[in-house]
Amino acid sequence: MAIQRVGVAGCGLMGSGIAQVSAAAGFETVVREVSAELVEKGLKGIEKNLNCLAEKGTITDAVRGEIRARLKGTTAIEDLKNCDLVIEAIVEKLPAKRELFGALDVLCPPPTIFASNTSSLTITEISAATKRPQRFVGLHFFNPVPVMKLVEVVRTIATDAAVYEEMVAFGAKLGKTVVRAHDSTGFIVNRLLVPYLLDAIRALEEGVGSIEDIDNSMKLGCGHPMGPLTLLDFVGLDTTYYISQIMFEEFKELRFVAQQLLKGMVLAGWNGCKAGRGFYDYSDPQNPKAMKF
Ligand code: 3HC
Repeated sequence: MAIQRVGVAGCGLMGSGIAQVSAAAGFETVVREVSAELVEKGLKGIEKNLNCLAEKGTITDAVRGEIRARLKGTTAIEDLKNCDLVIEAIVEKLPAKRELFGALDVLCPPPTIFASNTSSLTITEISAATKRPQRFVGLHFFNPVPVMKLVEVVRTIATDAAVYEEMVAFGAKLGKTVVRAHDSTGFIVNRLLVPYLLDAIRALEEGVGSIEDIDNSMKLGCGHPMGPLTLLDFVGLDTTYYISQIMFEEFKELRFVAQQLLKGMVLAGWNGCKAGRGFYDYSDPQNPKAMKF
């Protein structure tokens, strides 16, 4: 089955990015949010990105228009029913994902493929809410989706081999490098990334170096685009804390244990860039200042 029409459930940071790359790759794309305000906010963000690309000359004005014309926003879940593939990027809560896919399973015809962009739940536990686990995969994208070159394509023991290969081909059509991953909590990237980020907080707590020195060490010493504490602010401290808890519950390994400092910052609402404060203070977003603890 050739994918022509793509549905995206959720138009937040990840969903809007996925919708953008899907429309840019030539797929008719419908993106659904729960309120008209959220649809508008998501589409505005995409338009801003497309305008930036056009201003830089990366795409022509005509191409910008074509991409935008392939994108439709909606609040009606029924508008996803004619899609060949529905990618979910809603809140990272199992009951919400299961409820959504349960409803989509009734609406969408049997050939429709379902995918989740979950970063920490297993695809198996989400797909169990449907009668089509054989047509269910993980498509795990990275923030910012239009820029990051990777997608993890995740199969469960139930995923049909042909469906899986179709999703590998779909990832490539989006212009991403595909890595194949089994349905293990955190897949490949978060299995390796989360302990690294937690270790950076441990190093800070133990006084090994300052916030700036830890970040500069990994940026300039190892060629990472962002240091780990900047990356924590970028990903969201609440998100990282939540993922680490799920991973610890799964693996019972100390490398996934979140520190007091991370927990305290999350409880205080210092969740990183989006909160205006994390390891850095973003009062002046162009010039973040390291916090003093
Ligand atoms: N949307 C679209 N484009 C964006 C963007 C965004 N949010 N942010 C930056 N860009 C574009 C810029 O327009 C620029 O494009 P150009 O090269 O054509 O001019 C390019 O990206 C580089 O941006 P900047 O020059 O402004 O800044 P940087 O060079 O510092 O790049 C970055 C910004 C791409 C975010 C880079 O710092 C980076 O790669 N950081 C690491 C991000 C990362 O690790 N993401 C993964 C997080 S883990 C995850 O998502 C998994 C989850 O499960 C937790």
